[in-house]
Amino acid sequence: MSRTPAESLSSSSHGARHVAIIMDGNGRWAKRRGMPRTVGHRAGVNALKRTVEAAPTLGVEWLTVFGFSTENWSRPASEVSELMGLLKSYVQSDLARLEREGVRVHIIGRRHGLAQDILDIIQHAEARTRDNDRFHLQVAFNYGGRADIAEAALRYARDVAAGRASTDVTDEALFGSYLSTAASPPPDLIIRTSGERRLSNFLLWEAAYAELVFQDVMWPDYGPDALSAAIAEFKSRDRRFGGVDSNDVLASR
Ligand code: FPP
Repeated sequence: MSRTPAESLSSSSHGARHVAIIMDGNGRWAKRRGMPRTVGHRAGVNALKRTVEAAPTLGVEWLTVFGFSTENWSRPASEVSELMGLLKSYVQSDLARLEREGVRVHIIGRRHGLAQDILDIIQHAEARTRDNDRFHLQVAFNYGGRADIAEAALRYARDVAAGRASTDVTDEALFGSYLSTAASPPPDLIIRTSGERRLSNFLLWEAAYAELVFQDVMWPDYGPDALSAAIAEFKSRDRRFGGVDSNDVLASR
């Protein structure tokens, strides 16, 4: 997460290196079919599998997905339990293949509050894929952008108190290294499905210069074609990172 906007520009001008997705619409997808919401979440896992498979073929190196937010605990207990179970079954069914295909799995978000079996599966997935670097799958689970920033601030303050960090300068890159996303570059493209147009507490710090693409497709229907369309939209955007377009620099001379 420590790249400056200018560095991001040079690396992302070729494509969307880091894509982050708010996988929205599982409940509505199921409701429209007269089925319980949990069926929508299960179909959402299949969409996730299709998307993980397609992403590297579209030039994506990092894929971050919002699997469970710090606010999702307010859903009915049965739905929370289904989402916990789906993370577990996804890892159990796909970890060997992800490991074989060179995918490194990162789970970001608050560990406190998760049951021991979920903590074990997270630790197992991260440990088994630690040496991989062909593709990075980052799952935000029990994640909230504000909580992540607040917890980073606390860790930073503790390091200052212990003399391990200084308050002499404002160092955005140093602060970014305290976030749970520290291992990843900033997202180039953030996608939200289902037609909603909000960030909903996802990657608040990291989204500073991300392009946002909102797609009307419900998450369970997502796959290679929709991802490819989002990336095409991203490529049509003019990313200036607070500066001016290079053509405008030439024109003003
Ligand atoms: C939003 O749809 C989706 C979620 C809250 C969870 C996303 C989870 C999955 C795609 C499956 C699980 C995958 C992992 C890795 C845990 P919604 O329920 O808010 O849909 P709605 O807005 O139509 O009600």
